[in-house]
Amino acid sequence: MSGSRRVAFVTGAGRGLGRALCVRLAEDGIDIMGVDIDEQIASVDYALSTPADLEETARLVRAAGAAMLARRADVRDSARLAAVVDEGLDAFGRLDIVCANAGISPWTSPVDDPETVWRDVIDVNLTGAWNTVREATPALVAGGRGGSIVFTSSVAGLRGLGGGTVAFNAYTASKHGLVGLMRTLARDLGRENIRVNSIHPGGIDTTMMGAEQVVPFMTAHPHFGETASPALPDGRLDPREVAQAVAWLVSDAASKITGVTLPVDAGVAL
Ligand SMILES: NC(=O)c1ccc[n+]([C@@H]2O[C@H](COP(=O)([O-])OP(=O)(O)OC[C@H]3O[C@@H](n4cnc5c(N)ncnc54)[C@H](O)[C@@H]3O)[C@@H](O)[C@H]2O)c1
Repeated sequence: MSGSRRVAFVTGAGRGLGRALCVRLAEDGIDIMGVDIDEQIASVDYALSTPADLEETARLVRAAGAAMLARRADVRDSARLAAVVDEGLDAFGRLDIVCANAGISPWTSPVDDPETVWRDVIDVNLTGAWNTVREATPALVAGGRGGSIVFTSSVAGLRGLGGGTVAFNAYTASKHGLVGLMRTLARDLGRENIRVNSIHPGGIDTTMMGAEQVVPFMTAHPHFGETASPALPDGRLDPREVAQAVAWLVSDAASKITGVTLPVDAGVAL
């Protein structure tokens, strides 16, 4: 039996932008199925989130008045994602929104093997997003009410920022790849009234952008992002400022918006 409240599936829900998405959508009365990874990826030079982080997201969602099914899942494991979607459908009876948000950005990877670094970034950021939508989309279609899919890309999905590392080459390729995936799905799923868009944040104040890894990277790669300055006086983004844009994009207020690459970046991509 399908309930009347909308339901969103969010990856990378443990902290950062993923947590902000869960909480902001919860404030709009949307119940959440949220997943995050339960192990470190060796090529990433900062700690990924913990089970306690995901529990904190669930606590905040519940405090905002919504329900949350919080589960550990690696977006590289499509069978696990399918199991969580099934469990969420049993719990909530429907799915309306998908936020393919999980991502990694190794700055100075501790792994010395370029092929491993390249593959890890592409596997999580691009293939992981594809796994997410391919496991969740059948439920959107089956619901027959249309729906909304949002990919978290980046300014690095719209332009080259340089950086000169395998990791950032892979990051840039993965985030551009999401645009192609978004566009072709927007065409195919439009027939089902499922809207598909991507957001392109500038620098968000999250663990991924922690000074411990970013400052040494910037020092070693002084040309990184030199053509990418914000137009607005304060270019730093709070995760909630990005989540607000997504809340609008998945709402009826954006009912005719599909296939769009939406910068949320204080003008960096200008
Ligand atoms: N922080 C920024 O400046 C910035 C800018 C543009 C885009 N983004 C994108 O925003 C998204 C969220 O990043 P964030 O800034 O919140 O960083 P973050 O590191 O705080 O959060 C990312 C979350 O994804 C999870 N995750 C990583 N690999 C996973 C996997 N294989 N399976 C499941 N979960 C996994 C992490 O554990 C973490 O909880 C990412 O796609 C990132 O590329 C971030």
